[in-house]
Amino acid sequence: MAIRNLRYEGDEILSKRAKEIEVIDDKIKVLAQDMMDTMHKWDGLGLAAPQVGILKRIIVIDLYEEGAQFILINPVIISQKGEQEVDEGCLSFPNKFGKVTRPKEVVVEALDLDGIKVKLQARDLLAQALCHEIDHLNGIVFTEKVKPGTLEVVNPDDIKK
Ligand code: NI
Repeated sequence: MAIRNLRYEGDEILSKRAKEIEVIDDKIKVLAQDMMDTMHKWDGLGLAAPQVGILKRIIVIDLYEEGAQFILINPVIISQKGEQEVDEGCLSFPNKFGKVTRPKEVVVEALDLDGIKVKLQARDLLAQALCHEIDHLNGIVFTEKVKPGTLEVVNPDDIKK
């Protein structure tokens, strides 16, 4: 178990596009586990590799219910349906929260850690988390999508880092 350092608002890596993963080697497997550990340490629902300083297309998600843990490599949204207005935050912006419009349902294709192609049909919170994390892989952060007037900034003294 290893906790990686998080990258925070203002770090330019968060606005860069991550690269496709061509070979799922041991380094990627260690990265995936470290990302899971790092996300759990900070009670996050999702984490994308650029948030730990790695420009590779891998995300992890944990909704803290049975069967809702995912490690996805090269994830792509292949279809989406509907809209939901949701409250959102991000481990890279620990003092910011706001309302974002996300698709209500998405279908995502990716590879799992064994290189097997997986297809996920997701709705509600899982659809939101997938969209948020895949945005990170494209250098997009949620604050760019926050509905005007809903951004809430919490006093940094109230946040434990
Ligand atoms: Ni995020």
